[in-house]
Amino acid sequence: MLKLGIVGLGARSGGLLYTLFKMKDEVRITAVCDTRQEVIAPYVERFDKEGLPRPKICSGHKELAALPEVEAVLITTSWNSHIGIARDVMLQGKYAGFEVGGASSLEELWELVRASRQGGGQCMMLENCCYGRDELMALKLARLGYFGEIIHCGCGYEHDLAWKLAEEAETGLERGTHNWKRCADLYPTHGLGPIAKILRINRGNRFLSMVSMASKARGLELAAERDGIPRTFNEGDVVTSIIKCANGETIELHHCVSLPRPYSRDCKVQGTKGTWLEDVKGMFIEGISPNPMAPDEEGRPTRYTEPQWTPVKELYDRFEHPLWRNYNPDGIGHGGMDLPVLRAFFDAAKRRITPPIDVYDCAAWMSVTVLSERSIAMGGAPVAFPDFTNGSWICQGQVSDSPWQLDEIVEPSKEREF
Ligand SMILES: NC(=O)c1ccc[n+]([C@@H]2O[C@H](COP(=O)([O-])OP(=O)(O)OC[C@H]3O[C@@H](n4cnc5c(N)ncnc54)[C@H](O)[C@@H]3O)[C@@H](O)[C@H]2O)c1
Repeated sequence: MLKLGIVGLGARSGGLLYTLFKMKDEVRITAVCDTRQEVIAPYVERFDKEGLPRPKICSGHKELAALPEVEAVLITTSWNSHIGIARDVMLQGKYAGFEVGGASSLEELWELVRASRQGGGQCMMLENCCYGRDELMALKLARLGYFGEIIHCGCGYEHDLAWKLAEEAETGLERGTHNWKRCADLYPTHGLGPIAKILRINRGNRFLSMVSMASKARGLELAAERDGIPRTFNEGDVVTSIIKCANGETIELHHCVSLPRPYSRDCKVQGTKGTWLEDVKGMFIEGISPNPMAPDEEGRPTRYTEPQWTPVKELYDRFEHPLWRNYNPDGIGHGGMDLPVLRAFFDAAKRRITPPIDVYDCAAWMSVTVLSERSIAMGGAPVAFPDFTNGSWICQGQVSDSPWQLDEIVEPSKEREF
């Protein structure tokens, strides 16, 4: 049974608690803290209803991380504090699992990397979208070569949050304030995490350079006006970035949280033999998808109509990733993605192994926010990514011992309890 502390008891933490209560045979929450005193009592009262002992209430994350009854720490605070808290936890020799978000400076990312080398602890970003059903299936198809050689990918965070962000900026909540004062790809990892795994970033490949541009900003201003709040925002409605990878691929990222549209992580994988396009819920795979352009036996095109997408749901039977198929999530927590990401972190912390999303992944993915901000400020000039691995990215590296690893396709061991 892993003994867990939780730092940050806001909306996300409250949602995760449902999932954590379902894992009560695997994990015991022993300590909690939040800088807002008013959220603590209602949070710990939920333990009574579950018949679980209340966790100890700590005055801050350093006190919490130092407790002997805390082996790992879940960090569900707002964006600016994740990295510093994770660093302090690792320096105590413990494991830190932190929620998603971008970085504010490259220096804090270097500190994170150094702490993981010095402190004996490790960290994992809890990027649940890496365990999404379609993301996992695309990863499997990529590893099996169904996309051919991958040339170009796309991803993003397209979520109409204008109605919330204007108010958040007014009340000083961190996410709204970032959108008010900064202009960057503020939330890159939901889309970029799965794509980075598909492209083996930090394991034989790396992000090399990036250019970013931001459109004008109107969506948040209009939302603020509707709420009677006159305010201008720095964050452009659409931030577009292009990353060049060492192995030659390009990745186009979009960040748009202020214009009306349905939610999307905008994923795309395009190779010499096939393409996945999340927004059409389809894949085109040579030899599998309908392709009337394919030549007949005599080499003549049969009909001049366009290749057709195969709906992803028609591919699940044949290509489901073993992590999804064997583990069979029952849909709790963001369509089933929260449980596997938490299990991956808890398993790594219990066995003190490298997590499937390690410190180098965290640093590379989160640096996109800082670097996009710099590139935009310089009118779209190219910026170089630091090599946080200090050269070791050139090796494919060993596949993590985690049964939740996202690097190779491994049938989960029958002996291991999922
Ligand atoms: N993975 C997902 O699907 C998903 C979904 C929603 C939110 N999130 C992420 O979860 C995180 C939290 O989001 P939220 O909506 O719960 O925000 P929130 O503002 O509701 O909650 C954050 C809490 O952290 C507390 N806090 C801030 N700094 C602290 C510190 N130094 N020590 C202790 N407590 C501190 C705040 O007082 C607040 O109660 C964000 O990174 C967000 O992006 C992820």
